[in-house]
Amino acid sequence: MPDDKKIIFSGIQPSGFVTLGNYLGALNNWTKLQHQYNCLYCIADLHTITVRQDPEKFRKAERELLMQYIAVGLDPELNIMYYQSHVPQHAELSWVLSCFTYMGELQRMTQFKEKSQKYSDNINSGLFMYPVLMAADILLYQTDLVPVGEDQRQHLELARDLAERFNKIYGDVFKIPEAYIGKVGARVMALQNPSKKMSKSDENRNNTIAIMDPPDVIMSKFKKAVTDSDNEVRYSVEEKPGVSNLLNIYCAVTGYTIEQAEKEFQGKGYGDFKKSVAEAVIANLEPVQKRFAELKNNKDYIESVIKNNTERASKLADRTLSKVYKKVGFMPRV
Ligand code: TYM
Repeated sequence: MPDDKKIIFSGIQPSGFVTLGNYLGALNNWTKLQHQYNCLYCIADLHTITVRQDPEKFRKAERELLMQYIAVGLDPELNIMYYQSHVPQHAELSWVLSCFTYMGELQRMTQFKEKSQKYSDNINSGLFMYPVLMAADILLYQTDLVPVGEDQRQHLELARDLAERFNKIYGDVFKIPEAYIGKVGARVMALQNPSKKMSKSDENRNNTIAIMDPPDVIMSKFKKAVTDSDNEVRYSVEEKPGVSNLLNIYCAVTGYTIEQAEKEFQGKGYGDFKKSVAEAVIANLEPVQKRFAELKNNKDYIESVIKNNTERASKLADRTLSKVYKKVGFMPRV
C-alpha cells in the first residue's frame, strides 16, 4: 500500500442479506474513497457468531458478501477485502485490549442493551465483548478513518478511548481513528416503522430493502412504506419521519440535495413520490445486481481475491500486533 495515503478500515457482518441501510450508510461511501485512501474492508464474521448462526446459511452469506463488496464497485486490487476469521491477529489483539477495557464501558453500549433484549435467551460474553473486537479490527491497521453509519458511532468512541488509554501507558502505539459518517444515508430507517433503523435482522421483511431484491419487490416495499396523512413532501424528521426517510434515501441514490428533492415533488402526491424513490433505488442497484450475477459464475476469481487479500491484511496486522506484544512485555518468539 502506498505510504503517503491515509488508511481506512471498515466492515460489515455477514448476517443475512445486505440492506439498503448498509449500502447507503457504508458500502456506497467506501467506493467513493477507494482512490484517495488505502482501504481495508473486512467481512466481520467473528462478530456474527455473537448471535447463533446456521453454519450453512452463514457460509453462504459470507461467500455472497465478498461478491457484493466487489459488485458495488470495490476494486480488489485497490482495496484489501478479506474475512476477519482468516486473520487471527484480530482475535489476538482483541484479547489484549479486553484487559484495558472496563466492564462499565461495555455495559453502557446501546447496541449491547438492544441485542440483549432481542436475544434474551443467549446473552453471551461475546456479545458483551463485541465492541472490543471492533476496536481491535480498527486499531490493528493504524486506521485514520472509519466509514460507518450513525449506529456505530458509540463503538468507534470506545476504540478511540482504548487507543488513548494504551498509548498513555506504553507510548505511541496506536493511531487515534476518526469516524467518517456520510451526510445522507447515515441512518436509513425501517420503511414501516421510521422510528427505528433499517436492520438485517428485522422480522418484518417490508421494513427492509435488500440490495439484491428484484425490482418488483423493491417497488412493492416502497409503495407500502409508512408516510403520514398530509400529502406534502417536506423534510422534518420529527413531524414527518416516514417522508423524511424516503427523501433521505432518494437523495442518497440520486445525489440531489433535500431542497432539490422537495422542489421536485412539490404539489405531487405520495403515490408519485414513492414510485420515484423506488425507481431511483432500482436504477442505482441495477448494475450492482448485474455484476453480482456475473461474479457468481466466477469462483476462481473470487478465490484468488481471497488468497491475495488475506496475505496482505495479515502482514499489515502483524506489524501492529508485534509492537503491542513487545510493549506489554510478552516473551519474544524464538
Ligand atoms: P453492520 O454489519 O451492522 O452494518 C454494516 C454497516 O452498515 C451501517 N448500517 C447502516 N447505515 C445506515 N442506516 C442503517 N439503517 C444502517 N444499518 C447498518 C453500519 O453503521 C455499518 O457501517 N460492528 C459492525 C461491523 C464491524 C466494523 C468493524 C465496522 C466490525 N468491525 C470495524 C467498522 C469498523 C456491524 O455490525 O455493522
